[in-house]
Order: sequence, then structure tokens, then C-alpha cells
Amino acid sequence: MNVVRRKRLDALKVELGDRSYPIFIGENILTQSNIADYISGIQVMVVSNEPIAPLHLQALIDQLVDFQVDQVLLPDGEQFKTLASVELIFDQLLEKRHNRTSTLIALGGGVVGDMTGFAAACYQRGVNFIQIPTTLLSQVDSSVGGKTGVNHPLGKNMVGAFYQPQAVVADIGFFSTLAKREVAAGISEVVKYGLIYDADFFVWLENNMQAIVNLDSQAMTYAVRRSCEIKAQVVAEDETEQGIRAWLNLGHTFGHAIETHQGYGNWLHGEAVAAGTIMALDLSCRLGWISEELLERTKAMFKVAGLPVLPPENMTEDDFIQLMSVDKKVLEGKIRLVLIKELGRAIVTDDFDHALLKQTLAIAN
Ligand code: GLY
Repeated sequence: MNVVRRKRLDALKVELGDRSYPIFIGENILTQSNIADYISGIQVMVVSNEPIAPLHLQALIDQLVDFQVDQVLLPDGEQFKTLASVELIFDQLLEKRHNRTSTLIALGGGVVGDMTGFAAACYQRGVNFIQIPTTLLSQVDSSVGGKTGVNHPLGKNMVGAFYQPQAVVADIGFFSTLAKREVAAGISEVVKYGLIYDADFFVWLENNMQAIVNLDSQAMTYAVRRSCEIKAQVVAEDETEQGIRAWLNLGHTFGHAIETHQGYGNWLHGEAVAAGTIMALDLSCRLGWISEELLERTKAMFKVAGLPVLPPENMTEDDFIQLMSVDKKVLEGKIRLVLIKELGRAIVTDDFDHALLKQTLAIAN
């Protein structure tokens, strides 16, 4: 009998007691990750989308020979991150008679991951799921930490649940088939970790940004690993975002307003977060908390990555205020923002001069 020996992969761990789980990170590891160890029953539903499935689905299915494997392919794009798409997953689960021991596997970017996790949280009141994120953005952010859900026409990610996966497999080999624009969109979330949590990582990113853009294997592996380490630490400390986890939303209040205003899918999430991050830094600078130099250094990195550093010109101050008022961080009608106090440390606050916020909202005009 041929015994296939697999190399033991090192894993980071998200420490959440009996809901702890590993994150495997490396190049071309999908076939080495012992994914079957994280499946408890015999039924598996792979959820992917139309562009990703032809590239990676077969490699995954080849790992699952001992299971009943079914699949559902969702339409691609943020505009399809809806309850209607989640229903397509339920339809398949019911048609193929999946029971409570079924495991859902998300193979795709953040949209697929968020919807699969949400379907797993709801199907028969909760079944297991595994994340196999295929984009940089989903590897460093959305696949880790259990935020799942869908958009509503009136606000992004407004319907969802905290629901942790059983494992995450982040294979940076997937990036060789990723559009440059998608790689860039992930870079804004990577830079975020330096800004909010780790000044040394920020400096390392400045020195290695071109290598990351060029998909250099060593640089990319370190960038993904350090981002996931920080995310795992933050999630372990504050799973349901009562405190420090909100720092991970740097640039997101501005960014979500941009995405909603432009129409989901027109600006990629990471592009809107890049412009939103510059707006958060701009306001932090106006408040006297950080230097203009830090703002310029961040803009320089985003430019190397091909990310926008200004919001869209067609958005008015009123557009921003109206859309930012439905953010989940709003408390008692007050807009709360994640701002930077110094490189490596953020703050969530509603205590800022609104005249300065207005100046920030007008930076593109
Ligand atoms: N994407 C931010 C978080 O997971 O909390």
C-alpha cells in the first residue's frame, strides 16, 4: 500500500478555549494541510464561486476522497453578498440532505467566506466550517476571527453573526492567479496592522512593499503570517468587539461609506479601506496626534501598491455623514471612529472636533 507522507505544517492558533483553531500559512499547502482532520462527519459542502472553482476546486476535492462532497458555486462579487446568495447554500444543503454533522468549506475570497460562515452559523442552528481563503485580503483579515454575514442595501455587513471556523488554510500560492488589483486590495489591510498595533511591522512593510507587490514568496509569507498573528491576538483578547477588536476597523467607517455610495463591487473593499485609512490618518493628523510625515509615508506605501489615497470625487460631506451614521460603531447617534494616536496604537472615539472631520471629508474636493 502507498502511504502518502505529509509534511507537518506549523500552525498559528487562535486561542478561544474549546473553540480554538489553527491557521495554516504557506506556499502550496492546500494539499499538505490535512484538511480532513478538521471534518467531523462524512458530509462536506464546498462553497466557492464561478472564477475560483476552475482554478482550485479539484485540488481540494482530491483531499476529500473519504467524504460525500457536494458543491455550490455562488455568483462573484460584493454585490452578491446577500441573503439571496446564502439561500442558494441552504437550497443545496437541503437538496443533498446534509445533516447536523455536515461541514461547510469556504473556498474563495472574503465574500464567499463571510457567506459560508453565516450559512454554517444558521444551518440547523449551527454546523462546522473551514475557511480556505484565496485572496490576500481574506487571508489576512476576513477568514480569521469569525465575523460572518451579508450586506443590506442600507449598510455593509449589517446582518450576520460571530461564528468561528474549525480551521483556516491560507495558501499564498493562490495569489499567482489573483488580479493585481485584488492583491493591492489586501495590502491596505496588511498596512493596517502596522498602523494600529506594530510600528516595527509598519517599517518592515515600507522596506518590503515592492517585494510584496511582486509576490515575493518570503516577503508575502511573512506579511500574511505577521498580519494573522496580530489578528489572532486581538481576536483572542476581544472576540465580540467590545474593545480592542474595533481597532481592526481602521479606515472602515469611511471605507464602508465609500463602498455603499459607489455601489457594492465598484470600489473593492480594500480600495475603499485604503482611502478610508488615509482619511482616518488625515483626521488624526489634524487632531495633532500624528505627524504629517506618517500620513505621507502611508500614502507612499499605498501608491507603490496601486491603492487610492483619496475618496471618490463624487462624494459630498453629506453623503459621508449620512452613510457613516449607519456604521455599527455608532452609539447614541454619535459617529465613532478608529483613529491613530501614534504609530502602532489606535483609539476608538467620538470625541473629536466635527469641524476637523468636515475638513477631512472634503480632502478630495
Ligand atoms: N475585519 C475586522 C474584524 O474582523 O474584526
